[in-house]
Amino acid sequence: MKAARIHAYGDPDVLQVDDAPAPVAGKGQVLVDVFASSVNPIDCKIRKGVLRAGLRYDLPRTLGMDLSGVVAAVGEGVTRWKVGDEVIASPNPKTPGTYAEQSVVDDAELGRKPKNLTHAEAASLPLVFLTAWQALVDKAKLKAGERLLVQAGAGGVGTVAIQIGKHLGAHVLTTCSAKNADLVRSLGADDVIDYREVQWDAVAQHIDVVLDALGLPEARRAYKVMNKGGRIVGISTGLPERVAKAGPVLGLAGTGIAMGCAMLGSRLRGHPSWYITRKPDGSQLDHLADLCERGVIRPVIDTVYPLEQIAEAHRHSDSGRARGKLVIQVRAAGSLAPPGLRR
Ligand SMILES: NC(=O)c1ccc[n+]([C@@H]2O[C@H](COP(=O)([O-])OP(=O)(O)OC[C@H]3O[C@@H](n4cnc5c(N)ncnc54)[C@H](OP(=O)(O)O)[C@@H]3O)[C@@H](O)[C@H]2O)c1
Repeated sequence: MKAARIHAYGDPDVLQVDDAPAPVAGKGQVLVDVFASSVNPIDCKIRKGVLRAGLRYDLPRTLGMDLSGVVAAVGEGVTRWKVGDEVIASPNPKTPGTYAEQSVVDDAELGRKPKNLTHAEAASLPLVFLTAWQALVDKAKLKAGERLLVQAGAGGVGTVAIQIGKHLGAHVLTTCSAKNADLVRSLGADDVIDYREVQWDAVAQHIDVVLDALGLPEARRAYKVMNKGGRIVGISTGLPERVAKAGPVLGLAGTGIAMGCAMLGSRLRGHPSWYITRKPDGSQLDHLADLCERGVIRPVIDTVYPLEQIAEAHRHSDSGRARGKLVIQVRAAGSLAPPGLRR
């Protein structure tokens, strides 16, 4: 099968589209024919070797943590899915990678694909939805009437977080550059802060929940704009900068210490705070499908790249200027024969 793999850590050109062995579904796993995947900044961090002290891979390694596709086979003990089901997932990093014609996903990490979306649209959502949902609902327990500040509202996580915030009845403030103001307003943002023109902490006020996608220094600036007891959920830790300065092992250790100190410092000021890593969760993805079909969440796609242009897609993500999501089209829609007719 075709798969985009890294053979070494480095710039986007280390990604090659290879003829790779197809994975096999083990006990409790599902083999998926992948139609589309998407690029997340974590894929680029893995490609650069930033995470290699904590996430060890034998190279070559297929990258990718999002998929939309069709069940091709089920492993022993799987009863929830059958061949031909349309599914989405953001699988755990131990599974084979989703920039490939086939991938294997643990049964409980699969959700149903929203019926109203194409595979390309559906593949743009799992990782960013799980991240934003787990930050705003599971951790911060955002309530109707509260004021939510979403940092980097025009990014993959931000575009979904704004929509979740509005769905939960919050007043949503967000930061982005002027060119993206109309986009974030169309997603429901009430107040848009052009962070290139003004200091966001000079204009945002009375915030109950901050979703911080920018890193620790920005999170600290949040104290002065928060209501008493306001909560901070961080999803960006500054690991790449520390690894660049101190190497993978010390960079990872330093990041763990910095996160712990930041959470403690925040709590001592009366602001509960957490750093989270998205957890795969099929039942939350089923809920995502419901929200898409009810028109609550819509995908925001910047560019769809064919698998062969994976290096270009990574360069785009590395630029830090993606507007919504970068999708990878792995197979053309309608290119797969129905299950009974496959060789
Ligand atoms: N912990 C987790 O589980 C988890 C999960 C997902 C993502 N993350 C992390 O969260 C961060 C965001 O992820 P993402 O997928 O949303 O990234 P992304 O899609 O690549 O974000 C790109 C966006 O960031 C905006 N941006 C850049 N600098 C900004 C600034 N100083 N202020 C406001 N907006 C700014 C840009 O908007 P403009 O062009 O308008 O500036 C652009 O639209 C990344 O560091 C990622 O690794 C963590």
